[in-house]
Amino acid sequence: MINAHEHVELIREVFRYAQAFHDKTFVLQLDDAVVLRPAIVGVMRDLVMMHEAGIRIVLVAGARTRIDEILDRYNVECRKYKHVRISTPDAIPFIKMAAFDAANRIMTSLSGQGVNAVIGNWVRARSLGVVDGVDYQDAGTVDKVRVDLLRATIEQGTIPILPCIGWSRSGKPYNISSRELATHLAVALGASKLFFLSEIDPIVTADYPMDVEIDATTDGRISRLNVDQAQRFVDLHAARETLAVELVGLGLRAVSGGVERVHIVDGRSEGVILQEIFSNLGVGTMVHGNEYQSIRRMRAGDVPDVYRLMQPLVGRGLLVSRSESDLHDAIEDYVVFETDGMVHGCCALHRYGETQAEIAGLAVDDNYEHFGIGRRLVSYLIDVARAARLSEVFVLTTQASDWFELIGFRPGAVDDIPEPKRRTYNRDRNSRILIYDLSPQP
Ligand SMILES: CC(C)(COP(=O)(O)OP(=O)(O)OC[C@H]1O[C@@H](n2cnc3c(N)ncnc32)[C@H](O)[C@@H]1OP(=O)(O)O)[C@@H](O)C(=O)NCCC(=O)NCCS
Repeated sequence: MINAHEHVELIREVFRYAQAFHDKTFVLQLDDAVVLRPAIVGVMRDLVMMHEAGIRIVLVAGARTRIDEILDRYNVECRKYKHVRISTPDAIPFIKMAAFDAANRIMTSLSGQGVNAVIGNWVRARSLGVVDGVDYQDAGTVDKVRVDLLRATIEQGTIPILPCIGWSRSGKPYNISSRELATHLAVALGASKLFFLSEIDPIVTADYPMDVEIDATTDGRISRLNVDQAQRFVDLHAARETLAVELVGLGLRAVSGGVERVHIVDGRSEGVILQEIFSNLGVGTMVHGNEYQSIRRMRAGDVPDVYRLMQPLVGRGLLVSRSESDLHDAIEDYVVFETDGMVHGCCALHRYGETQAEIAGLAVDDNYEHFGIGRRLVSYLIDVARAARLSEVFVLTTQASDWFELIGFRPGAVDDIPEPKRRTYNRDRNSRILIYDLSPQP
């Protein structure tokens, strides 16, 4: 049970997320197998809530299961090669029927919740042609998306639903992969998030061993992969041609194309989208940009968030108190750690003359501790100090001296810090002084 204080914090967090994501685009690819599950009711309800909070939702309807079912019923044979269905001209009318059927199911579900949705032909496709000697016949690939028309639809408050069909310039229909289409769309629309909702078991290190350090939960789930780690994942496991490898590969493409986060989640469980967004470890696997992309200079608009972040730590005597106006005055010195448009950590580097600088105001959100955010912020500023050809950085801390020593700082004394800082050193606070020596530039 959460207590009243946690409850209030949770509501605040929801408001902050709603603000951060207002007007952002989320593209979601829904496998039809997932749409048939009871949990879809909750997923749709959450999507509608996000839509009403101002998030621009675009849905792509997968139809693999429905296509298999219809082809089977009408005895039309269609082979697959490397996940792709070789769509014969005989099969195309059935594939089209199944694709629209799957899209219709999603529309019916949204209509039931009072939301306007429309199925449309915003995608131009071309033939996949012959690859590795295999003729894919009427299987297609995305040629172009009418982003302008799609945006106009979204502007009207309508949720667009795209079936896994695209049309050539002459109007010939092609079967395209809904997962590829969603990836293409997310890049073309500059989406913040791309979700793949499939029937997928957690991607765990026991099944996908990695030879580089990654973030995994205690039960071995790979919770997130940055671009380099995702590339390594694909390189190591490509030969297995599993759904996990396909989705991580597509995630990599989307993130390389500018999408901020790609979430691979099991659509069979209730509340999966909200859990993935709101819990720090998520419930699936996320592919995201490289870590330094999450560290940036503090802007005026961040000051209230940074102030809020510091308050509990000030209350516990871990940080010196600063007002919002103090933060504004030192704005140039601060960097923040941002995830999904939310600030979860901050740190400053104050210069003293030509050789020294102070690491100060380091704070990490309680809910985001132990993810290496503190280490990344300090390492980032050490790099900044090194690039400025300083010879050392120092820090004053009451309770984190062990932590700083762990990341390479050594104990120092009051005499080691620059004279202006020595003058303001608060003997009552009696902070410990630690120093990091910067190796000279080669
Ligand atoms: C210290 C602090 C920055 C660490 O942030 P973080 O993002 O959790 O740090 P990392 O993830 O890089 O490192 C976490 C590790 O350090 C350890 N650690 C955290 N605080 C520690 C401390 N005060 N002393 C010793 N070790 C500590 C954790 O146990 C954890 O170990 P684990 O990964 O084996 O579980 C954060 O706890 C914080 O904001 N503290 C209060 C502010 C403060 O003291 N600032 C310094 C003065 S400027």
